[in-house]
Amino acid sequence: MNAKFLKTTLLAVLGAMSLSAATPSLDPETGLVIAHGFDEVKTNCTACHSAKFITLQRGDRETWLGMIRWMQKTQGLWEFDATLENTILDYLSEHYAAGQASRRPHLKPSLLPVNPYE
Ligand code: HEC
Repeated sequence: MNAKFLKTTLLAVLGAMSLSAATPSLDPETGLVIAHGFDEVKTNCTACHSAKFITLQRGDRETWLGMIRWMQKTQGLWEFDATLENTILDYLSEHYAAGQASRRPHLKPSLLPVNPYE
């Protein structure tokens, strides 16, 4: 083994290590990021529909809270105590924040067209 081979191998191994540290691991069953709050979200948010609703959706904390309130009001989603709700919102707004993936960030209210039905 020569020094150049060793150096190249070492760099490749270090590169792979830093890559795996930067890429969050995903739950093979749901595709959700495994991080603080994952268990709570998996338990409470995949009972009625696929986790794809979450992984394809993006939003800041307020947007996520709005979706939760909408599901609680109209879709039979149960109430969460404050601690659980905070954990869920921290997780969603950190890992599925606005403007990170398939969905563009929400338009500002001033950019929305006039609602003709009002
Ligand atoms: C009691 C059942 C139920 C649970 C539990 C539930 N949801 Fe939903 N959710 C629904 C229904 C029903 C819809 C609407 C499905 C449709 O439009 O076909 C929906 C829609 C959604 C959407 C799509 C909204 C949109 O704008 O298209 C997202 C995102 C979502 N849920 C996230 C969550 C999250 C996050 C949780 C956990 C906090 C959760 N859901 C838990 C019933 C549930």
